[in-house]
Amino acid sequence: MARRGGRATSRIPGEMSQVARWCACLLVLCSAAQAGLYTASDQIVLLSPDSVEAVMVNSTAAVLAEFYASWCGHCIAFSPVYKSLATDIREWKPAVQLAAVDCAAEENRKLCTDFSIRAYPTIKFFHAYSKADSTGASFRASSHDVAVLRHRVIDKLENHQEPWPPACPPLEPTSQAEIDSFFETNNVQHLALIFEDSKSYVGREVTLDLLQFENVAVRRVLSSEEALVNKLQVTEFPSCYLYSAAGNSSRLRVNMEARVFYSYALQRLPGVVRSGKPPPVNEAVLINRTEEQWRPFNRSRVYMADLESVLHYSLRVELAAHTLIRGQDLTALRKYISVLTKFFPGRPVVMNLLDYVNTRLQNHTDKEISYETFREWLDNTDQSADTALPEGVRWVGCQGSQPHLRRYPCGMWTLFHVLTVQAKSIGGTDPQEVLSAMRNYVHSFFGCRDCAEHFEIMARESLVEVNTFPAAVLWLWSRHNRVNNRVAGALSEDPNFPKVQWPSPEMCPTCHTVKENGEHRWIPEQVLPFLLSHFSSSSILTDYLEDEDHILKKQQEKHEGRQRALEAQKHLDRNTREALDSIPHPLPPKPTLQEEEEEEEEEEEEEEEEEKAPQETKPWPKREVGVAGVQRRRRASFVGVRMRELQEEIVDLDMFVNQHYGAKALASNRVKRRSLQRNKDREPGPVFGLGIELDAGLGMVALQPVEQDYEPDVGRRRKRELTGRFYNREEERGHGGRWMSALSIGFSRVDVSLCVILYFLSSMCLLAMYLFFKNRLRLRRFKVSLT
Ligand SMILES: Cc1cc2nc3c(=O)[nH]c(=O)nc-3n(C[C@H](O)[C@H](O)[C@H](O)COP(=O)(O)OP(=O)(O)OC[C@H]3O[C@@H](n4cnc5c(N)ncnc54)[C@H](O)[C@@H]3O)c2cc1C
Ligand SMILES: *[C@@H]1O[C@H](CO)[C@@H](O)[C@H](O)[C@H]1NC(C)=O
Ligand SMILES: *[C@@H]1O[C@H](CO)[C@@H](O)[C@H](O)[C@H]1NC(C)=O
Ligand SMILES: *[C@@H]1O[C@H](CO)[C@@H](O)[C@H](O)[C@H]1NC(C)=O
Ligand SMILES: *[C@@H]1O[C@H](CO)[C@@H](O)[C@H](O)[C@H]1NC(C)=O
Ligand SMILES: *[C@@H]1O[C@H](CO)[C@@H](O)[C@H](O)[C@H]1NC(C)=O
Repeated sequence: MARRGGRATSRIPGEMSQVARWCACLLVLCSAAQAGLYTASDQIVLLSPDSVEAVMVNSTAAVLAEFYASWCGHCIAFSPVYKSLATDIREWKPAVQLAAVDCAAEENRKLCTDFSIRAYPTIKFFHAYSKADSTGASFRASSHDVAVLRHRVIDKLENHQEPWPPACPPLEPTSQAEIDSFFETNNVQHLALIFEDSKSYVGREVTLDLLQFENVAVRRVLSSEEALVNKLQVTEFPSCYLYSAAGNSSRLRVNMEARVFYSYALQRLPGVVRSGKPPPVNEAVLINRTEEQWRPFNRSRVYMADLESVLHYSLRVELAAHTLIRGQDLTALRKYISVLTKFFPGRPVVMNLLDYVNTRLQNHTDKEISYETFREWLDNTDQSADTALPEGVRWVGCQGSQPHLRRYPCGMWTLFHVLTVQAKSIGGTDPQEVLSAMRNYVHSFFGCRDCAEHFEIMARESLVEVNTFPAAVLWLWSRHNRVNNRVAGALSEDPNFPKVQWPSPEMCPTCHTVKENGEHRWIPEQVLPFLLSHFSSSSILTDYLEDEDHILKKQQEKHEGRQRALEAQKHLDRNTREALDSIPHPLPPKPTLQEEEEEEEEEEEEEEEEEKAPQETKPWPKREVGVAGVQRRRRASFVGVRMRELQEEIVDLDMFVNQHYGAKALASNRVKRRSLQRNKDREPGPVFGLGIELDAGLGMVALQPVEQDYEPDVGRRRKRELTGRFYNREEERGHGGRWMSALSIGFSRVDVSLCVILYFLSSMCLLAMYLFFKNRLRLRRFKVSLT
């Protein structure tokens, strides 16, 4: 590297490097935000001084690298071509990998000088197992035609000197002899033979397109290979035949004799799977899966059940992550609901609900809205007639062969395709309305942030150009296809639903054609009517929809449950208040810490409720209680937890006192009582003797049995925490006098003074213990609040 570096720098004239430096500065100044012309999602490896060695040196694949400067006009003009090339040959990656480096970025300057780059763009071809000092072979980038560039890549690969990239299959034409022995040496199910003339690239392109697929091999046969041509009676060039181990053959049926159609058909032969991907699951097995019932469906149809599921998920689950919605997000939500209200082709109950929510939302003039309020509208807590959004999801057309595949994102795409088509057929006012609502929703709320970013880039790029309703439909279709292209083969791809450029040739044969040069071309005049019909409201199937009456009944039950819960809460509050007045009071059941945790878990689980969940009526529906209710219950039970801790402490102390000192219950009770009380809560009593001081604030409590001792205190404390008011002082004062008189009944003065002495001694002792236990208690309390 150092050797090349030295050599290269010396060759560059001073002026050039001056220019480069100037350009680098310019770049840093003007385009700090978007560095370079390519991003990581372009199927192009972005080279940097750190990665260059790992990517280029001793690589098992050949590397095609573009050296560009982001400010150079030619480079900017060429970048869409290079991106298209990358997408076009993305299946060839194990044999040839595309890379790019921005030489205008200052940190890459040395790298570019090392490779002797003097003009931009420069494309170089590095064969597999290149050495560290290789500067690559030149690669003419004069053409902006992806097909020409692709053919050049093949030429370079074919002229590859040894060692040949191990992943790259043989590209030379095959012969009768090789085919005869093919199945002896290869363990594949299908052999596809592409018959063509010597100038055609189709055979080699299809071979490379199938590079990452198992169980299939492709060979090209020249029209001059008479033995085979005659044997299979081939008359058309190009044409594709499947050849079996038994020696028989059949022609591959395709719409058009072109690369795209061959590749598409071969990739979908039975048994053919993408390498490293699990094979598709048999639908019969899916049906039998126990976790979730599989709903058989027609793959070329749209289902209302998916659309309603998307509404449920986006409004009840995705939005719920935003407790307070304001600013840009609130605008996005308004637009989303407004577009749904206008164009969602839903059934009356759902439309009523959308209308209802929309009216509320448009009428809501605050700058922000809490999700809780929104949720109340969504759940129709006003109980407007015939108004409901079904709870839970039931995916049909968007079912995945695994629980983590398809579903919500699939439904999201479908929903917006339907909305753009509806806007076209109903006739809105603004052709961009649906798309900009989608853009804003995705930007503000869509949980997949990478997706949101990519979508925003696409929208920023070209959404402004959409100025008719058909253009909006086609825009979303073509951007969706771009995403399909990018994520094909990704981990998120369901093996049962491989990503294709949609609609497939089977679905819409007339949508596809080939250009003169054999390149695939969509026919927009055919695609548009197909989309309009596919996503039209009249062709949406209503299978598996939850019954309307059932939805309304469930909503009503839920509402009643909520009312009951509110009543119960009020009742509880009243009881608590009463508990203060009548002090001997049985303990309320104390929720344990564990129960409390379970409650919280349930609360979270509810977010992902499935269709079964809402069917059971809950005696205390948690959601409906509302945030305030939930918090109230939580606090109450937290007090319960603390109470238990205290109780244990009290019992211990009591036993200790009784066993070791035989002290009077009176005294021990006093100490108990004190241990419950926080210092700051205590009124300093009159100071004419410790005993008297200890009396202050004890009231009747001292005469109560241990179990009931803390109850009023708990009542009080709960009250205090809930209402922020203190009730206990007046009561304490009121009871204080009575206690004094009860003490003096039937005792002589000597008894009393003896008592006082004893009392004093034991008090000192107990005070010491009290301090000790109070410290321990505090430590425990602290631990409890931490958990
Ligand atoms: C806005 C958005 C951005 C996304 N970005 C990414 C991303 O960057 N990376 C990523 O990994 N995943 C992304 N996803 C998720 C990904 O696109 C798929 O939705 C997901 O992988 C599920 O795929 P699927 O097989 O169900 O088909 P989907 O692509 O979800 O398509 C759903 C259905 O729509 C139909 N359809 C397919 N293509 C088209 C088309 N071009 N026009 C009209 N209808 C069509 C088909 O019937 C298909 O079954 C994004 C999703 C959304 C909604
Ligand atoms: C290059 O890779 C091959 C195989 O991967 C390995 O045998 C060889 O040692 C490597 N050479 C260098 C210089 O890294
Ligand atoms: C070969 O013949 C068998 C039996 O007739 C048939 O099942 C198979 O599909 C044929 N294979 C090809 C590639 O045509
Ligand atoms: C599905 O389950 C049924 C009954 O349990 C069984 O008879 C059938 O063979 C199963 N089908 C498959 C494909 O496993
Ligand atoms: C699925 O829908 C398509 C398009 O409407 C139709 O042609 C086809 O017959 C349907 N398939 C099944 C199995 O119902
Ligand atoms: C909208 O808000 C106004 C003022 O707050 C209120 O009078 C009116 O009833 C509201 N309309 C609806 C439909 O809620």
